[in-house]
Amino acid sequence: MENIKKLVGVEAAKFVKDGMIVGLGTGSTAAFFVAELGRRVAEENLQIVGVTTSSVTSEQARRLGIALKNIDDVDAIDLTVDGADEVDLALNGIKGGGAALLMEKIVATYSRDYIWIVDDAKMVTHLGAFPLPVEVVTFGYGQVFRLFEKLGFNPVVRVDASGEIVVTDMGNHIIDLHLAEIKDPERLAKLLDETVGVVEHGLFNGMVKTVIVGSASEGVKIIT
Ligand code: A5P
Repeated sequence: MENIKKLVGVEAAKFVKDGMIVGLGTGSTAAFFVAELGRRVAEENLQIVGVTTSSVTSEQARRLGIALKNIDDVDAIDLTVDGADEVDLALNGIKGGGAALLMEKIVATYSRDYIWIVDDAKMVTHLGAFPLPVEVVTFGYGQVFRLFEKLGFNPVVRVDASGEIVVTDMGNHIIDLHLAEIKDPERLAKLLDETVGVVEHGLFNGMVKTVIVGSASEGVKIIT
């Protein structure tokens, strides 16, 4: 699996050219993309500026000597490369398994080009087997949780390995919705967008144009 993640990470880095402002995704797959950019910066003198999607990615980029800028200090982001948790046939996806969905969606929204890198196990017919992360403000999150219960969304407040409620880089909590199957991603996204207390959700509908899929048997496939 690590090999496949590296394969797609390295493939995505080929889309990065000198002078680009690059959105740097978060997660174990995106980390291979960032690592390859770091290698190119060090060995090929690649000139880029990164815009980060999490504190973890910032740290990795800094360690690798990739120059970073705050999202508000760049005109536009040329290309963002990120992982995803599930991708359906229409290239809608679920993100946020790593709790970075809010920053990820903002960076993606202000990017000219946006690519996901995934292994083929993440390609699905219908989204929803992967719990849908919803980022909620800490004030009143219990009320939002109860609303989700009433709606039959099987919510679970995300906790870390030591049982503490997760606080995101943006200071919010995550509620994971165990939906099994999302029949209408657009409709669900609208409902969540309109729910007071929800800051953002992990449905990334129609945002990506290119998905680089890696598999052990077939290598790399680019889906557009
Ligand atoms: C981070 O919040 C996520 O959106 C990740 O991009 C997603 O969970 C994919 O992560 P992995 O590459 O680690 O599976």
